[in-house]
Amino acid sequence: MPAKTPVHVTVTGAAGQIGYSLLFRIASGQLLGPDQPVVLRLLEIEPGMKALEGVVMEIDDGAFPLVSDIVATTDLDTAFDGCSWALLVGSVPRKAGMERGDLLTVNGGIFGPQGRAIAANAASDVRILVVGNPCNTNCLIARSNAPEVPADRWFAMTRLDQNRAQTQLAKRAAAPVSSVTNLAIWGNHSATQFPDFANARIDGTPVPEVIADTEWLQGEFITTVQKRGAAIIEARGLSSAASAASAAIDSVVSIRTPTPEGDWTSVAVVSNGEYGIPEGLQFGFPVRTDGQPGGWQVVEGLSHDAFATERIRITTEELEGERAEVADLLP
Ligand code: NAD
Ligand code: LMR
Repeated sequence: MPAKTPVHVTVTGAAGQIGYSLLFRIASGQLLGPDQPVVLRLLEIEPGMKALEGVVMEIDDGAFPLVSDIVATTDLDTAFDGCSWALLVGSVPRKAGMERGDLLTVNGGIFGPQGRAIAANAASDVRILVVGNPCNTNCLIARSNAPEVPADRWFAMTRLDQNRAQTQLAKRAAAPVSSVTNLAIWGNHSATQFPDFANARIDGTPVPEVIADTEWLQGEFITTVQKRGAAIIEARGLSSAASAASAAIDSVVSIRTPTPEGDWTSVAVVSNGEYGIPEGLQFGFPVRTDGQPGGWQVVEGLSHDAFATERIRITTEELEGERAEVADLLP
């Protein structure tokens, strides 16, 4: 069979912590598959270019058969030229004591120009995953600055939260993590997110029937997931990186392949008013997809009790507040 045409993948902030884990997994075929060659298009700001040179040397030294070219640049047009996937990681991480929303003023300004450059240069099938925090609202900023790119191509990452929640439930139930399915993260990738235990399942059984401890589910479980990023910063002195890169890989794989029957995946997508969420917010929902660009849908018809409804209201309000805060960055 003839070799496939390489797919151009852009990674911003490529010399950073997440980049250092992510790039080698892309190079080894974990993002787009073991027979899909890639061109890596790596964006950095000037102070990061020297470190990026070193990272490029290391990718070269990996002799990855799937890497057909590497472009390292500070130029937005070059970085996004012909890309079918853009992973927007580059931005400043928070430090201990900060909330992710505190980064809006620092990072928000990065995403308008990147949105415009994506619209001007990317391939017609481009799909974008925003990782840089606060990722929901950064994604909203980029998307709003790229009206030529369909709104359904933009994703912000809540998969790390899904993975964290699945592991917490699996440990509590003494079950394998793979048995935990249907885990939806609603709303913002922040301390207001709602990891929806009630609609999640363990081996097909609703979680509250397996873990009959409402106090733990409504309390420690939720706060552990909501505050996991801060706990990692406290322990490592740096924000999560390898697990974030892993979740970025998981996100793209889940977006580009059909969702397994009966399950869903967590990702923040543009709201079209599902579940009464204001239109246009980049909101964490349970999503199913056929794997094609624009081929996803929010899973409708899930029920929420008063507790869940209140949690979703709180995270919605936070995202509306963030949207108001960056109004001047939204054309
Ligand atoms: P890092 O500081 O190690 O690396 C960030 C890199 O981005 C640096 O090399 C920096 O030079 C570069 N950069 C900064 N501004 C840029 C710009 N305008 N264009 C291109 N590159 C730029 O940070 P990190 O640990 O890799 O984290 C990156 C971001 O990801 C942070 O905002 C962090 O909070 C976020 N994050 C999100 C999740 C999530 O689940 N959504 C998880 C972990 C981290
Ligand atoms: C995380 O969830 O680990 C990241 O968003 C980093 C952070 O600031 O918490």
